[in-house]
Amino acid sequence: MAQRGECTFWVLLIFTEGSTMRLDKFICKSSELIRDEAIQAIYAGQVVVNDTIMTNPSLQVHENNTITLHGRRLTARAFRYILMHKPSGTICSNRDEAYPSLFNHIEIDKASELHIAGRLDADTTGLVLMTDDGRWSFHIISPSQQCEKVYRVGLRDPISDDVVSTFKGGVQLQGEENRTLPAKLKVVAPREVLLTITEGKFHQVKRMFKAVGNRVVSLHREEIGGIRLDVGVGQWRYLTADEVNSLRPGCPR
Ligand code: URA
Repeated sequence: MAQRGECTFWVLLIFTEGSTMRLDKFICKSSELIRDEAIQAIYAGQVVVNDTIMTNPSLQVHENNTITLHGRRLTARAFRYILMHKPSGTICSNRDEAYPSLFNHIEIDKASELHIAGRLDADTTGLVLMTDDGRWSFHIISPSQQCEKVYRVGLRDPISDDVVSTFKGGVQLQGEENRTLPAKLKVVAPREVLLTITEGKFHQVKRMFKAVGNRVVSLHREEIGGIRLDVGVGQWRYLTADEVNSLRPGCPR
């Protein structure tokens, strides 16, 4: 018989290797319920974790816990990892705003649960990675993880030689406390370069070139952590297991 309880959850949960997540998120990942419905079911005492009714939606649970909804055992869906070629004039948001959402191109169940690991501006094209695995995207986004992103940049003015060393040493962006982390610049043509950076400040690439008196006229992301864009504009595919694992810590980049 299930007992009602909230404070004793840490006694009840057995943490082993694998993922932990909020209880309401687990319900969404393992049933047809959307977030609001999951929260209502939890408040209504319809969710049982390891024989105890749990009424706190933010409770951290482990995928190995025994979790039931209306007496039916739930199993969390596997995380999803998607590569997409973002077209210009779309936004990296879960809903349409001034431009249509990138998610309109993805016809899969519960696409709204996905988030983007490193957003692009509306006018930027190229490689976008999407997932519902927050720990995985952290390894891509966090500057501490040194995950390299490669951008092909079109410039208004011819690039001057000294910019290579300037970017290597880090540039001071307007309104930022610290310089940018060392960036690699490869000159392809006088007005075309490949820029490799490991962080993702707001409008970073555009602001870096502005800081050296130039201007970005086109921007396209080609690569993230060794994963290259290989689908047409507006198309997407699931990442392979090897690709997913290659972006986890401790794996070669
Ligand atoms: N830097 C920018 O300025 N814009 C992007 O979309 C991505 C990186």
